[in-house]
Amino acid sequence: MAKGLFNSLRLLVIFVVALSASLSQAQNAGFHNAPASAKAAKNPLAGQNPAAGGPSYQQLCASCHGDKGQGSGNIPALKKDRLGAVSSGELFWFITKGDLSNGMPSWAQLPETQRWQIVNYVKALGSAQVANAAPKSSDSSAGAKVDAPPPTPPFTDFRYEKPGTVRKITLKDLPPPFQSKSAGNGPKVVARPPNAWPQVPAGFKVDLYADGLDNPRLIRRAPNGDLFVAQTDANSIKIFRGINSQGKPELISEYATGLKEPFGIAFYPPGPNPQWVYIGNINSVVRIPYQNGDLKARTKPQHIADLPGGGGHTTRDVQFSLDGKKMWVSVGSASNVDDPDTTPDEKLRADILEFNPDGSGMRIYAYGIRNAVGLAVDQKTGELWCSVNERDGLGDNLVPDYITHVQDGGFYGWPWWYMGGHQDPRHPGKRPELKDKVITPDVILHPHNASLQLTFYDGKQFPAEYHDDIFAAEHGSWNRGVRVGYELIRIPRHQSGRASGEYEDFMTGFVIDNTRVWGRPVGVAPAADGSLMVTDDGSNSIWRITYVGGGK
Ligand code: HEC
Repeated sequence: MAKGLFNSLRLLVIFVVALSASLSQAQNAGFHNAPASAKAAKNPLAGQNPAAGGPSYQQLCASCHGDKGQGSGNIPALKKDRLGAVSSGELFWFITKGDLSNGMPSWAQLPETQRWQIVNYVKALGSAQVANAAPKSSDSSAGAKVDAPPPTPPFTDFRYEKPGTVRKITLKDLPPPFQSKSAGNGPKVVARPPNAWPQVPAGFKVDLYADGLDNPRLIRRAPNGDLFVAQTDANSIKIFRGINSQGKPELISEYATGLKEPFGIAFYPPGPNPQWVYIGNINSVVRIPYQNGDLKARTKPQHIADLPGGGGHTTRDVQFSLDGKKMWVSVGSASNVDDPDTTPDEKLRADILEFNPDGSGMRIYAYGIRNAVGLAVDQKTGELWCSVNERDGLGDNLVPDYITHVQDGGFYGWPWWYMGGHQDPRHPGKRPELKDKVITPDVILHPHNASLQLTFYDGKQFPAEYHDDIFAAEHGSWNRGVRVGYELIRIPRHQSGRASGEYEDFMTGFVIDNTRVWGRPVGVAPAADGSLMVTDDGSNSIWRITYVGGGK
């Protein structure tokens, strides 16, 4: 329904965007540069029951922003702590005009009353007043049937993802921009159906290590084997220790609370006896004194460095160089494709930043990296690698996400260019001097996969051919007609320390149909026993993959 609406609105949307650009002089800073007149606009439905906007919100907005406004992938959550301070008039103005280049449609065609109802509903999200308007997550209504033709290789979709399938996408496979329309196809996360379970290649098996978590995101193994898990929404970090005879943790401890949307976790100095745990909050790097075996933070976090917080991409991963002299921090862009040359909010974003471990000496290590959610250092070569979410709005099969080693001073394209020296059509003619500088990544992943954490497999349990391979969690698409991702992938390196560009579907099975999914991989880390742990913020659990033999 929403999709049919998008089609018929194309022209109108273009018109509204052009109109708003011509009004830009009249804008002031604030919520998406809303003009003062928007702020002052009176809400004719002020004080009315916000639940009235529920059906419209669920029908038009939930596919991207989530049924409770929790956001999904690159789409912002509609949170009380941010939107509470925004006036109804500003929200009305923004919803009316949209932000097309960043993936937010214009809703100018909806009757005004309906828009105000939606505003009231959005402002009440997270409160008891509208709690019952969101459908229960156990909703088992039939999902949209996919009648799309099979994808054209090398592109794929969830129907064709299968453990062991090897894929390779090259620059020459990329279609032109806008070859297909841009979808708003966020998933509806439902409870795991009784017969569903993650699928892995022959010889491997998956067990449920832990469940009932609160938004588990990045997972990292401490030198003593403890697994640290960032619960970003809960602002906390949990420790999972050991594996008992039932395959469950021997002990779970809440390590730290009161953080600010924590994601990255790193132990410093590198080696067997770290003295600190570093944590990437949304707007800062902090650290906590640490000794092997600690289950509770010894002190409050110490502030090490400020990071740009604000809107847009929120994850900040942290890693140290092998010699312990440098700290790398990934900071994704504030927007889909806004121009940093003219957008102050994009300062020091879409970068990997480098610091001294005490937070001094900041410089940009690599740039034009739209959103490097995961960082990992190859323990053999010392190279920094990253896993990147590329941009939206150019069609189903553009722009590919990627995994690559990172070159000091390297430029990876965003926002004026993308891989292969292609100019982003939303920035015609800009920054010509950078065209030939765009680095082609080592592994071109499927567009819209939402590639999150990556890790090097340093265990001994999997067969020798897996040693030093990369595993990465693909959270899954929203900006694609038929969804893709929602899997763990393997990047074989054949003990060469390099990637050939190939990747393999490794753990799949989280998608029910083109509407509903029950799991979304986020983090991945090898446990001390060589099994592979995967966090999943769809089912709020941790999966454990073990090698049992009998495969190829
Ligand atoms: C196709 C996906 C999609 C749909 C459908 C959609 N949005 Fe959005 N929305 C986005 C994206 C992407 C952004 C971020 C835009 C940006 O970076 O400026 C956004 C931003 C917003 C923001 C600003 C949030 C902030 O913190 O700055 C609000 C408010 C919002 N949307 C409300 C709505 C409402 C209400 C609806 C339904 C009427 C809706 N959206 C439908 C994708 C969508």
